[in-house]
Amino acid sequence: MIMSRWASVTMMCPWRQLTHSTLSHILLLLQGSAGVMSASLPQSTMMSGDIVLVHQALTSLLSGPLSGQDLLLVTDDHTQRLLDLNQVMEAAGASLTPVFLATQHSLLHTPRPAHHTKGTLLTALLLFYQDPTDFLLLLADNTNWNPSYLVLFCLNPNLNTTTVLSQPVVQRSHFIHLLHIEVREDRHFLYTYTSLPTQRNMRGRSLVRAGMGAWDSNKFISRHSLFPPRFNDFGGEVLGVSIQCYDEPFLYFGDNGTCIGMNIDALKIIGDKIGFRFYMDSPPDLVWGLKVNGTWNGMFGHMLTDGLNFIINEMQPTLDRLTDFDFTYPYWEDSFAIMVPNPPPLPQWRNVLYPFPSLVWGLVALTTVVNSVVLAMLINRMYKIGDTFGTVIKVST
Ligand SMILES: *[C@@H]1O[C@H](CO)[C@@H](O)[C@H](O)[C@H]1NC(C)=O
Ligand SMILES: *[C@@H]1O[C@H](CO)[C@@H](O)[C@H](O)[C@H]1NC(C)=O
Ligand SMILES: *[C@@H]1O[C@H](CO)[C@@H](O)[C@H](O)[C@H]1NC(C)=O
Repeated sequence: MIMSRWASVTMMCPWRQLTHSTLSHILLLLQGSAGVMSASLPQSTMMSGDIVLVHQALTSLLSGPLSGQDLLLVTDDHTQRLLDLNQVMEAAGASLTPVFLATQHSLLHTPRPAHHTKGTLLTALLLFYQDPTDFLLLLADNTNWNPSYLVLFCLNPNLNTTTVLSQPVVQRSHFIHLLHIEVREDRHFLYTYTSLPTQRNMRGRSLVRAGMGAWDSNKFISRHSLFPPRFNDFGGEVLGVSIQCYDEPFLYFGDNGTCIGMNIDALKIIGDKIGFRFYMDSPPDLVWGLKVNGTWNGMFGHMLTDGLNFIINEMQPTLDRLTDFDFTYPYWEDSFAIMVPNPPPLPQWRNVLYPFPSLVWGLVALTTVVNSVVLAMLINRMYKIGDTFGTVIKVST
């Protein structure tokens, strides 16, 4: 209770403007709520100034670079208790933007519409204090999880955020921004990072966590500045390709028995351009690739179990494949058709009959017969002719 009231006070007056007396007042309030605090958090790692810092950063994120697009905000138990998100959203004027709120638990266990968890128009903001590794491992099973823009906000200075960034489910997002509260010389700062796994630092290590300096709301004013491009270049990475070399003219065996073809030529050109090399390997089962009893075989299974990166064969985008893998935009399409011989022309002597279908001809004949009989009977009765058969013949002709 006290925590949330306190948060609302700080939201209205930015940190810099707090007088000394309000500061001690806040600290007193914090002491008062020490029951909650000490049970869950060590005082030394999360201080009142941190919460102000976090509230301010969240407010400027929501009102600045993250405004105008759908936002999914996911909290863990600790951050839910520490922060007053309604206050943040109120202060940021976020009512114009659709904000979907979720806890880690509800995100994993409650079905949501796909546009809450994936797409180029979605930003997901994960706020966490506890180590999110278990949560991220479970989230990786959700094939609907693929927000293009991902913001990770770590409130715990003691967590190793390199480990968090190296989770495959995190790397699934096209753009990543990490904010982390860190302690340097006993002072707490908010630092920002992105992830450039294909770039190397001077010691040749992959830049899974690449620094972008201290948090500054004047520096990160647009989506563009918050999310630098992560894959301009693959930095000479060697990628594995699973192939079946029976796919002429895309892939086939050359005269000396090596696999050549149009797709390999194209891949070499693309690799030269964006900085990767590749090696090729064929799946041991020599199958193209289907999901059988929940397990992928062929090139897809090969890619998953042997850590290869992609496939360059001709591939039908079936529902199973589209669900579990990403396809590039098709650059070549095949279509299939059923062929039957044309029927021979109809005989000429039936020309006379063609204008009407047989049903019409049948009805004309029936009408003639019925009408003649009925008319002949009527004429016979009125004029007493006596020759019924002759009358029928005369009437019908
Ligand atoms: C964080 O984790 C990475 C591997 O995930 C490790 O290389 C690094 O040394 C760790 N950093 C610290 C400070 O423990
Ligand atoms: C096989 O032929 C291709 C070109 O067709 C060539 O690039 C490759 O070096 C040759 N491999 C060997 C082992 O001779
Ligand atoms: C799939 O599972 C069923 C039942 O468990 C089994 O009868 C069938 O042989 C399996 N199919 C393959 C291809 O393994």
